[in-house]
Amino acid sequence: MRVFLNGRLMPAESAAIPLNDRGLLFGDGIYEVTRGADGEFIEIERHLKRLKRNLREMSIEVPESRLTELVDASQTLLRENAPQGDALIYWQITRGAAPRVHHFPPPGTLPTIFATAYPFTLPHAVRARGAAVITTADIRWSRCDIKTVNLLPNVFAKQRAVEAGADEAIFVRDGIVTEGASSNVFAIIDGEIRTYPASPYILGGISRDVTLELITDLGRTVSFEPFLLEAMYKAEELWMTSTTNDVMPIVRADGRQIGNGRPGRFTMELYAAFAEHIGGVTAKR
Ligand code: PDD
Repeated sequence: MRVFLNGRLMPAESAAIPLNDRGLLFGDGIYEVTRGADGEFIEIERHLKRLKRNLREMSIEVPESRLTELVDASQTLLRENAPQGDALIYWQITRGAAPRVHHFPPPGTLPTIFATAYPFTLPHAVRARGAAVITTADIRWSRCDIKTVNLLPNVFAKQRAVEAGADEAIFVRDGIVTEGASSNVFAIIDGEIRTYPASPYILGGISRDVTLELITDLGRTVSFEPFLLEAMYKAEELWMTSTTNDVMPIVRADGRQIGNGRPGRFTMELYAAFAEHIGGVTAKR
């Protein structure tokens, strides 16, 4: 399998990053996870836009030509490594390799840019039964809107979920539900669709954005009034969204049944709309 690293396509075994890469030393980098289907990108423009915003927020300078190169190489990798079916494309850009001091390296230090693409199986069996989640304290920093590779709280949270036999961990900050360890969370509470507002305390998910548009298309409105964990337990329907899940119903939280314990009716309607939407942009499905 080939990968892309700093301008070149090469076998994965030959790709090497210096030990003093700032991504490795400080988690000083950003990433994107994008879906592919039958060798074509899904929602690539939105992922590219978020990547550029992240680079700006991090003050990592990457010429437009290098981003074009990244996209072109990713297209090649996608067609080579996952020509059929679902796939993931992973991008990472770090502040580059430089002697280890905390502050930014000298101007001219080249960012490290890499991409991989590989086949991916969507969790349809989990969707059919509905996901189980646990909740955990949101111990992250106050710039969760930047998609950095600095993911230790998310790693801890996900490990706790796995140990509990759950599918996702949901962060709770000061009693309020923010988002999942790698997903955004929506609930229907007293008939109203609610989700945490776009802010520095959550990642603005691409699937969240698509979901918000589809909810409008389905003739419903969304409230961005944050909700408490106690309200989440009593939600009529609960779901999460992410590139790796699409729309995923949640039927258990901390061992408690959510709604009637089965994937919600509106949630599944939304999922159907979501699947149709991304099918539409890939044109092949
Ligand atoms: N994570 N919130 C967090 C903290 C995330 O890490 C992610 C995605 C999302 C959903 O974003 P999107 O809809 O753009 O995938 C929300 C990816 C999938 C990951 O880290 O693997």
